[in-house]
Amino acid sequence: METIKLALIDRSYNIIAGENIIKAFGRNAARLKIGTDAYIITNEKIKRLYGNRIRKTMEGCGFSLRFRTVPDGEASKSIKTASSIIADIADYDQRRRIFIIAMGGGVIGDLSGFVASVYKRGVPYVQLPTTLLAQVDSAIGGKTGVDLAEGKNLIGAFYQPRLVFSEIGFLKTLSQRQARSGLAEVIKYGVIKDTALFSYLEDNYPDILRLKTGALEYIVCRCSRIKAKMVSADEREEKGVRTLLNFGHTAGHAIEAAGRYKLHNHGEAVALGMLVAAGISRRLGLLPESGVKRIENLIRAVGLPTRITGVTLSAVINAHYRDKKFLGKKNRFVLAKGISKAVIRENIPLEIIKDSLRERMRGSTALLRAAGKLDR
Ligand SMILES: NC(=O)c1ccc[n+]([C@@H]2O[C@H](COP(=O)([O-])OP(=O)(O)OC[C@H]3O[C@@H](n4cnc5c(N)ncnc54)[C@H](O)[C@@H]3O)[C@@H](O)[C@H]2O)c1
Ligand SMILES: [Zn+2]
Repeated sequence: METIKLALIDRSYNIIAGENIIKAFGRNAARLKIGTDAYIITNEKIKRLYGNRIRKTMEGCGFSLRFRTVPDGEASKSIKTASSIIADIADYDQRRRIFIIAMGGGVIGDLSGFVASVYKRGVPYVQLPTTLLAQVDSAIGGKTGVDLAEGKNLIGAFYQPRLVFSEIGFLKTLSQRQARSGLAEVIKYGVIKDTALFSYLEDNYPDILRLKTGALEYIVCRCSRIKAKMVSADEREEKGVRTLLNFGHTAGHAIEAAGRYKLHNHGEAVALGMLVAAGISRRLGLLPESGVKRIENLIRAVGLPTRITGVTLSAVINAHYRDKKFLGKKNRFVLAKGISKAVIRENIPLEIIKDSLRERMRGSTALLRAAGKLDR
């Protein structure tokens, strides 16, 4: 078990990660002294798998509980679901000692954090992440929010949890697709910050896909440490530190939106977005071709997509212009400068973005151009 501190001036909290630690969850929640009535937001599947264990550890420490389930999937990250939950919390909140537990993947985490941030102008909440993606990334750092038809995460707040409790054992029931999706964010950490992590992934990805405890624990702790440090340095993404975590997300969000959030899951879209960013980096002379290949080889090896299919170039470009990472009329990309170093660049010429997308859409750009099939 590891405890990692996320240091913030007046709102520091711990990330606790390890295997078979769930029985200590109640005790750790009690130590926070944030309330007696836990409102647990989850979905039916996760409740069925792990609800009893949470009940046991929480009731053992004298908490009262109410479970609230929402439908599985990104569609639950909506204002409609949030307001229905808030009405239910108001009904439960009789003794005024309520706190929220987000028990699930990134969807539940983002939604629950958002509800916690707005209910009565903020009540405490705890992240109990159950996917690899949530344990390495989304549960940490206090970015909360819901989606609008116009775009993802358009309504939200920075609102930090009081504890992140990552039970590695919960990851054993993930499907291969979900494990891969989390791996995309792990690869991201390697590219922007950590060569040793990147090499570890090249050597050990089969163990991660087999959901072996040691490998999972290593990557969850390593990524949690990196994210904790970056969030401590730049909580609100104002100093160009936390921004680097958006590597692969500018094009990734556009690809996700162009596929209407059905075609690709978040990690798959981020994998494609990282390849587009790597292509832009190469075109700007930041990353040699060998660097692009190394990233591409790892993404392919773990079974994540390396080709954008099912969406048109214009749909991706249109979604890209709606992204909130677009500052005024300037676009902004996080680009790779070799493995483990990333830089922020603005105003990338549209042709370079389009060429890098096209390169991922069909065969090689050169072949397509020769065949006269490029829609410029
Ligand atoms: N806030 C942030 O900083 C941040 C960062 C990255 C991603 N995100 C958001 O996270 C979301 C994606 O998160 P996700 O990939 O965890 O998706 P998700 O929450 O939809 O979970 C993926 C699937 O795994 C299932 N699941 C969860 N835990 C399980 C378990 N232990 N065993 C078996 N199945 C399990 C869920 O029911 C779901 O079907 C996106 O909305 C994305 O925008 C937020
Ligand atoms: Zn992400």
